[in-house]
Amino acid sequence: MSNQHIYLDNNSTTLLDSRVLESMLPFMQHQYGNPTSRHLFGRAARQALDQAREQVAEACGAHPSQVVFTSSGTEANNFAIHGMASNNENAKQIAVSAIEHPAVTRPAFALRENGYRVAVIAADHFGNTDPLSLEVALEKPTSLVSVMLANNETGVIQDIAKLAEIAKSRGALFHTDAVQALGKIPLDFSTLGVNAMTVSSHKINGPQGAGALILDKRVDIKPLLHGGGQEKGLRSGTENVAAIVGFGAACALIKDELASREKITSQLRDTLNMGLKDLGATIFGDKAMRLPNTSFFAFNEIEGETLVMALDRKGFAVASGSACSSDSTEPSHVLMAMGISPDLARGAIRVSFGTNNTTEQLNAFLTVLQSEVQRLRQLTAVAV
Ligand SMILES: Cc1ncc(COP(=O)(O)O)c(C=O)c1O
Repeated sequence: MSNQHIYLDNNSTTLLDSRVLESMLPFMQHQYGNPTSRHLFGRAARQALDQAREQVAEACGAHPSQVVFTSSGTEANNFAIHGMASNNENAKQIAVSAIEHPAVTRPAFALRENGYRVAVIAADHFGNTDPLSLEVALEKPTSLVSVMLANNETGVIQDIAKLAEIAKSRGALFHTDAVQALGKIPLDFSTLGVNAMTVSSHKINGPQGAGALILDKRVDIKPLLHGGGQEKGLRSGTENVAAIVGFGAACALIKDELASREKITSQLRDTLNMGLKDLGATIFGDKAMRLPNTSFFAFNEIEGETLVMALDRKGFAVASGSACSSDSTEPSHVLMAMGISPDLARGAIRVSFGTNNTTEQLNAFLTVLQSEVQRLRQLTAVAV
């Protein structure tokens, strides 16, 4: 990859922080013990896991005993949905918001094979999950509600405390996917009012291949993976020690750096948005509370995929819709849920900043964006 290429896709994954890499290296070299072994090597690995558990817990406002390590955010979401859905024999419905990541909706829909009904909670035009729609869904006995904390496409932050309160009043458990929230906004499991919360390492400058479900221990949850009984029997399989150590180290950085990250990325995002408005773009969810680093927008009559490829050729990496489903040409399900027209939604592009992005990079991006938008508009005009 060219050194000149500029990465503006930090909601997909992030650069591994060099301090995080440093913390991982011993566990990829000479410290190779299995944490379940009783000998010196094993005990050292166990100690490293314990430390990472404390670091992850602190960044999430949780107790270390509430952290269950997984291989990814996807696994943690699957674990929550499959593991918690059967907590109430008499409630064969689960409810998920219309804007969830597929790592929540797919396991939810898979449960239909086990006789579950899935209620989809509507979103409003601004990208917020509608509490009234949740209330309507909960008229049927519901075992579990899952609504994400911050949307990966629009960046819109959901009112989880309010939604969780509604679910609780109807006896349903509540899970939130906080993969995009951790490291970008303050996060406090202890006061959020949810029973389970998903986080992932590679969205916060940690390594890929580590995630966690933060879990209220009073909740009855069934494991997805059975075997050696790791993670107190909740997630069998030898832990990915190096990745988990890196996850912990990345979490430890959040405490001191969250405010500066919010400041750096929101300044870049606000400047981008001003430039986008000058170019006539529609910015989705810009009237709602959003993550500081994310802008999701479209230009009339320009295909998002086409613009992403054109920008890539000019040295800028951005996403069209959600990166996790970018091989699909369907308009974003999040924008559909917000009532955006399919034509405009097909133009959607996401820029998500990280702290390593600079004003110079942004200025260069805006210049190229302007010329590419003009060029593509001319092509469209000729084609018509
Ligand atoms: C909101 C959300 N949830 C879950 C995931 C999946 O996390 P992971 O990549 O760790 O499996 C993503 C990844 O993009 C995401 O944005």
